[in-house]
Amino acid sequence: MRIFIKKNYHEVSIAAADEINQLVEQKPDCVLGLATGLSPLGAYRELILRNKKGLDLSRVTTFNLDEYWGLGMNPHIPYPKDQSYARFMHEEFFNHINIQKERIHLLDGRAPDPDDQCVEYERQITQAGGIDLQLLGIGRTGHLAFNEPGSPFDSRTRIVNLSPETREDNYKLFYKKSGSSREEMPTQAVSMGIGTILEARSLLILATGRDKARIVVKALEGEVTPEVPASIIQIFKGQTTMILDRESASGLINPD
Ligand code: GLP
Repeated sequence: MRIFIKKNYHEVSIAAADEINQLVEQKPDCVLGLATGLSPLGAYRELILRNKKGLDLSRVTTFNLDEYWGLGMNPHIPYPKDQSYARFMHEEFFNHINIQKERIHLLDGRAPDPDDQCVEYERQITQAGGIDLQLLGIGRTGHLAFNEPGSPFDSRTRIVNLSPETREDNYKLFYKKSGSSREEMPTQAVSMGIGTILEARSLLILATGRDKARIVVKALEGEVTPEVPASIIQIFKGQTTMILDRESASGLINPD
């Protein structure tokens, strides 16, 4: 595992963009697993700039990790009042780069047949040749995507319940800012499973800020257990790159 500790959020974002940039140069038709949230946002902004300066993303295929259950792109609602992850990805990344729309894969939180969608999503990942690099943030509960504590290590794409802590965090971060009430916050999501994530060839995990310090220690130095889904990075067989800022790394005993 490679762990990089950077000065601040900006440097974490640049380093994350460097990793993705390098992969795209080596393999222009690579398959990226993408995440939402604040952690990857700076990297997306940096990749948008690089795309404008010549980094070609036209052959890249993407699969997003998750979506709130009940939500999907709603162009009739202004952004960010539309809190779907699909909308976030389009507004914050896809609309500004030269990716081909048919290479973008998103889970639909309003799919008429949820089980069918989950099976089909996994099939599409396999058909694309598997994920080369999966970008991940870490939730305060230790969740990866929306795999909350207790998610089995062999779980696949499925509908999941959100923990009260995650709902509270995401309410404060996103929903409150959009003017939504707590009652409007979804209680479920559709998410790739831990087993799905473990099949990626490499993981790129980002964490920043003091709020993440406790969970970073548990993920990297604690017991490997489904109670801390992020602890799977200790047993992941592919290459793991973790990029932290000083605050999120402040509790580590062994940062090397
Ligand atoms: C959400 C997402 C996760 C994300 C996490 C952390 O719950 N489902 O994929 O990693 O929040 O978000 P942030 O990066 O904003 O801290």
